[in-house]
Amino acid sequence: MQLTRASMNSDQIFGALSSIASPAALQKMQRKYHILSTSKDLTPPKFFALDQAARYKVLYGGRGGAKSHTIAEKLVKRAARDPLRILCTREFQSSISDSVHRLISDKIVSLGLSDYFDVTKANITSSIGAQFLFKGLRRSIQEIKSTEGIDICWVEEAQSISNSSWEILIPTIRKECSEIWISFNPEDETDPTYQRFIIHPPPNSMVIKVGYEDNPYFPATLEAERRYMLEVDPEAYEHVWGGQCRVMSDAVIFRNRFEVSDFDEPATGTRLYYGADWGFSQDPTVLVRCFILGDCLYVDQEAYGVGIELDDLPELFDTVPGARDWPIPADNSRPETISHVRRKGFNISSAPKWPGSVEDGIAVLKGFRKIYIHGRCKRTAEEFRLYSYKTDRLTNDILPIIVDKHNHCIDAIRYSLSGFIKANNLFDDCRFEDFPDAS
Ligand SMILES: Nc1ncnc2c1ncn2[C@@H]1O[C@H](COP(=O)(O)OP(=O)(O)O)[C@@H](O)[C@H]1O
Ligand SMILES: [Mg+2]
Repeated sequence: MQLTRASMNSDQIFGALSSIASPAALQKMQRKYHILSTSKDLTPPKFFALDQAARYKVLYGGRGGAKSHTIAEKLVKRAARDPLRILCTREFQSSISDSVHRLISDKIVSLGLSDYFDVTKANITSSIGAQFLFKGLRRSIQEIKSTEGIDICWVEEAQSISNSSWEILIPTIRKECSEIWISFNPEDETDPTYQRFIIHPPPNSMVIKVGYEDNPYFPATLEAERRYMLEVDPEAYEHVWGGQCRVMSDAVIFRNRFEVSDFDEPATGTRLYYGADWGFSQDPTVLVRCFILGDCLYVDQEAYGVGIELDDLPELFDTVPGARDWPIPADNSRPETISHVRRKGFNISSAPKWPGSVEDGIAVLKGFRKIYIHGRCKRTAEEFRLYSYKTDRLTNDILPIIVDKHNHCIDAIRYSLSGFIKANNLFDDCRFEDFPDAS
């Protein structure tokens, strides 16, 4: 009888191997086998179908559905077992920190598989010869096109993938039985990804909608955010947490004035602007960083937390590079919090407020030709899509009244630029040369 993997149980396999492998090597193999065979129990049931073959595996829905974690876990286990070449891609990736590299390497550790992987700053390989590649579509499409033999391509944050990127990527993943895994939170119904995979799914597609309720690991921090949004804006909740598409209405204050996009780190010596907004009870606390180039504003860092205790503020702020080095104008409604944070080593002070300061600040922000929001600043991008004027329920007229929701990151941006925002001094009066580093 010929002995194949399929015809032997694990005891027989390890028995046969004991005559050729050293005890240490055998033990290592047994440990890996144990991890791979038992950790299946960790997968949320909604994702069981992922183990079946399909050309397209599409996971979509609201925030917190365990999409990214589950895919990372499955790919790590596959890479521990088979010598696969796995491309992890997204539309925008300006540095490795924007990719799922960190998530994949954390999974390797949490699954106890560190002995079987080599993790370097830019690459991850497994002892059996699998390889993870991390590349952004927008910048590295030519490189991706010339990469041969990809077995699995994971497209993360796929809501922002353009049609032209799909048209180049799909034929590039051409190896026999290769698969394209796609994860995203829907934005607009007209987005190319939504049209291509949800409205008109191609043959051999597996499409799974998941939400936070399918995630047995749903953490308390996200639960606080979920409840907060349900309370302040049930309509936005349906989009962010319910996974419904959003229709960007004319009432959105920054409609057509911002773009979520990939851009480089600011050059050394660039003047950076920091601003902080405090959360009361369920409101988020926010620190943002931005800079100005030409007549555009770039928001490139955010720290965002709901229910943050005073003692935890320094840790949150330290996630924004340079936060201890630069001045931080902050919401002046909590002087005791400002004093506390200052004592912890931040150069923080009150931003002035006056009747109409919100409108004056918005006018300054609207004076930029464009506001670019880095893809990593997810909460800022979300607020720019949702921050709105009030509409008249009967006539649908847009009213000159700003709805006091979805404005924490935006308030923090206003505070960061408070040196330029003067009472009744609309941006028309303020030339770009007035900014110290405008080019
Ligand atoms: N397998 C897992 N093990 C541990 N925590 C998990 C796991 N899956 C999900 N989580 C938790 O749930 C949160 C949301 O999961 P995530 O994959 O980021 O959701 P989505 O990508 O759908 O927005 C994570 O931040 C993590 O705390
Ligand atoms: Mg995700």
